[in-house]
Amino acid sequence: MKLEIVPDYAELSRRAAEIVIAECRKRPQIVLGLATGATPIGMYRQLVQAYQRGRVSFSRATTFNLDEYYPIAPDHPHSFRRFMHQQLFDQVDLAAERIHFLRGTAADVERECSRYEAELEAVGGIDLQVLGIGENGHIGFNEPGTPFHLKTHKVALTEQTMRANARFFGSLADVPRHALTMGICSIMRSRKILLLASGEKKADALAAALLGPVTEAVPASVLQLHPDVTVIADKAAAQRLA
Ligand code: GLP
Repeated sequence: MKLEIVPDYAELSRRAAEIVIAECRKRPQIVLGLATGATPIGMYRQLVQAYQRGRVSFSRATTFNLDEYYPIAPDHPHSFRRFMHQQLFDQVDLAAERIHFLRGTAADVERECSRYEAELEAVGGIDLQVLGIGENGHIGFNEPGTPFHLKTHKVALTEQTMRANARFFGSLADVPRHALTMGICSIMRSRKILLLASGEKKADALAAALLGPVTEAVPASVLQLHPDVTVIADKAAAQRLA
């Protein structure tokens, strides 16, 4: 595992974008695994700028997003799908047919999860997976206690995650109680993983994930078992790593 500690969020965003850009240039037909949340917003901004300056193209890239609330309509103002369109998809040259998302309106959840896994398989898996980390150590929406062997599945969100995400919805009552997420097993199959952590609120989770035992109680700790993980943390998030 490579750990890069950077002074602040701006630097984290720049560094993360540089890694994504370098991988996209190395392999234009790259399969990217993408995350939502506040953490990657700065990185997406940098990617859009790099695209506008002609430094990178996504025209041959494929994307898979990690997770989506359930149920939620794709055009709901706080759906992850809408978020991705605003932050990245609508501003770069990604081909619509190569954007993959879990459908928060799927009637048959099991079928939806199998469809996603089959699509992942069909493209040969993810080359570079970008991850954030929850305050409780979750990755994607794999909450503490999620078995490591699970592929894409439906989850009940914990109270803590619903509270953390209420900042986007305005009120806790409006946060969906469930989500669909790529499983730990699906995530671990990615060839390369980039984990981003910013801010003091992530310091305990990051320390537990990187320095603690590998345990399903801290989903991100599984990354210690992956052969190619880069962690970029700003000073605030890295403060308990010493
Ligand atoms: C969300 C997402 C995760 C994200 C995490 C942290 O609920 N499901 O993919 O990494 O929580 O979010 P943030 O970056 O806003 O702190």
